[in-house]
Amino acid sequence: MATTSQALSAHEIRRRFLNFFQERGHVIIPSASLLPENDPTLLFTNSGMYPLVPYLMGEAHPSGTRLADSQKCVRTIDIDEVGDNRHLTFFEMLGFWSLGDYFKRDTILWTYELMTNTEYGFGLDPQRMYVTCFEGEGNIPKDEEAAAIWKEAGMPENRIYFLGRKDNFWDLPTKTGPCGPDTEIFYDWRGTLGELTHEEFVAANDAGDVVEIGNDVFMQFNKDGKGGYDNLPKQNVDVGWGLERVTQMVQGVTNVFDTDLFTPILNKIEEVSSKKYAEAERAFRIIADHMRTATFIIGDDRGVEPSNVDQGYIVRRLIRRAVREGKRIGIDRAFIGDIAEVVVRDYGEAYPELQRNRERVMKALAAEESKFQSTLHHGLKEFEKILEKDAQSISGHDAFLLFQSYGFPLEMTVELAKERGANVDEMSFDAEFEKHQQTSRAGAAKKFKGGLADHSLESRRLHTATHLLHKVLKTMFGEQLEQKGSNITPQRLRFDFNFDRALTEEERKHIEDTINDVIKRDLPVFWKEMTTQEAKAAQAIGYFEDEYAKLGNKVKVYFVGEGADNFSAEICGGPHVEHTGELGSFKITSEKSSSAGIRRIKAEVSANNS
Ligand code: ALA
Repeated sequence: MATTSQALSAHEIRRRFLNFFQERGHVIIPSASLLPENDPTLLFTNSGMYPLVPYLMGEAHPSGTRLADSQKCVRTIDIDEVGDNRHLTFFEMLGFWSLGDYFKRDTILWTYELMTNTEYGFGLDPQRMYVTCFEGEGNIPKDEEAAAIWKEAGMPENRIYFLGRKDNFWDLPTKTGPCGPDTEIFYDWRGTLGELTHEEFVAANDAGDVVEIGNDVFMQFNKDGKGGYDNLPKQNVDVGWGLERVTQMVQGVTNVFDTDLFTPILNKIEEVSSKKYAEAERAFRIIADHMRTATFIIGDDRGVEPSNVDQGYIVRRLIRRAVREGKRIGIDRAFIGDIAEVVVRDYGEAYPELQRNRERVMKALAAEESKFQSTLHHGLKEFEKILEKDAQSISGHDAFLLFQSYGFPLEMTVELAKERGANVDEMSFDAEFEKHQQTSRAGAAKKFKGGLADHSLESRRLHTATHLLHKVLKTMFGEQLEQKGSNITPQRLRFDFNFDRALTEEERKHIEDTINDVIKRDLPVFWKEMTTQEAKAAQAIGYFEDEYAKLGNKVKVYFVGEGADNFSAEICGGPHVEHTGELGSFKITSEKSSSAGIRRIKAEVSANNS
């Protein structure tokens, strides 16, 4: 596990990255939340560019045209692969962007400089680097320009390869959206390969002998939804490098778990289990990965707690799998809080929200662990009984029983069954689940496989309705009332706020009437770019203490109604409708307690009612 004494720490790598781009005119923006606020199609922020889509599409960013950050990302598509030496559910993406500012030349020269410079850069060995460029397709030409710049930067020609669309063209898994050719940086992690022909490089990539550490995308097109490409208003650059992988290369270790991003966590697991990492690598990696991810999700400023739906279900799965792996390696006490403490300590400087929300994280973990501990034992007994009935297969009904009565996430039952050579009828589990729950698990699964926002009209309507609701509640109950969570599906909005009792019938009616009145007046909805000072003066709703204040001091404020007709102002990235009339009518469908001191409103708008 030891890293060489001179190797840069991961934190130093992150710092050098941000510093390098700050010195080159970039504004460092804080990581966006892991929980996309107004996008029913995506469970977690999955890349550095995701929060920036509107700006890549042409909207002006409040912090200017050069941005850089280190973005928290969660991708759960490979969750079942975690335990080998490279899959992770949480990772950090180092990103930098040009929004119609510089283009290929600066991007590539800076990439080479930062990656190879030994004084202020990462000090990677150019003799172990390879790069790929787009070979061209249709009317998008071969990217000779990028290749020429790589040569100018110092890459020998025989380490530059041209590949096709599958490898060197980046887009979102949506019908429309920003996209473009990219150039990718690979590294020979063992340092044994030397020069490679085109075929040898492709084979080395397939075999994992070279690892992609960075992707520089030249985003200049928008998919038109019919297989064609339109030019975007501006030529943008969207760069994403995986911090874990870069760190592995810089520290000269054979896998991400041997970097200092993980060693303190693994050491803690050794301490609580009295086992050595080498004795149970898979279990250690699962616990380390899953607890790092769970800590970041709960510890987000819009964090969610374990539950049976959507993001909460993912957190539950992560925690319960970690707890079970802990049991497997002989840990017989509550331990996940100890692991999370290491995460908060190690990452708290780069992500201060972890410190701010530390107590909430610890409470939620302790509650979930104890809830699961108390049923795990009985659940496992029940599992054995089920297998006694039929050693080969577990019915959807039984899997649902394990879920409902013993809190076994389906995936855990499947995993347990697999270990015993049995199958689970997942289809009929889904049917049982849907009979009993509001939300379909299949729906949630689809979401974390990756779709991205198309910002449908329904979402925009509900998003604007959320601003109106927030404003009315503050006007009725005072400034100390705050948004504690928000979520939009195509059908409804959900809004959590701190309040300690149920609303009365009259209060509910007053909220609906006020909002419906604003809708009837058909007020314009528009935004202005402002400094945080100006936003405060305009009495915009927002959290000035943390995230926004750091945003290079410029924020986007959405207004409903102008001048004397102004109804609300709120710091927000959008998107919204253009006129309140588009909302049709507003109706609260439920209002109840969501947790101690927090109420939850669900509401709908219906457009045809106007
Ligand atoms: N958007 C690019 C990626 O996620 C940088 O790989």
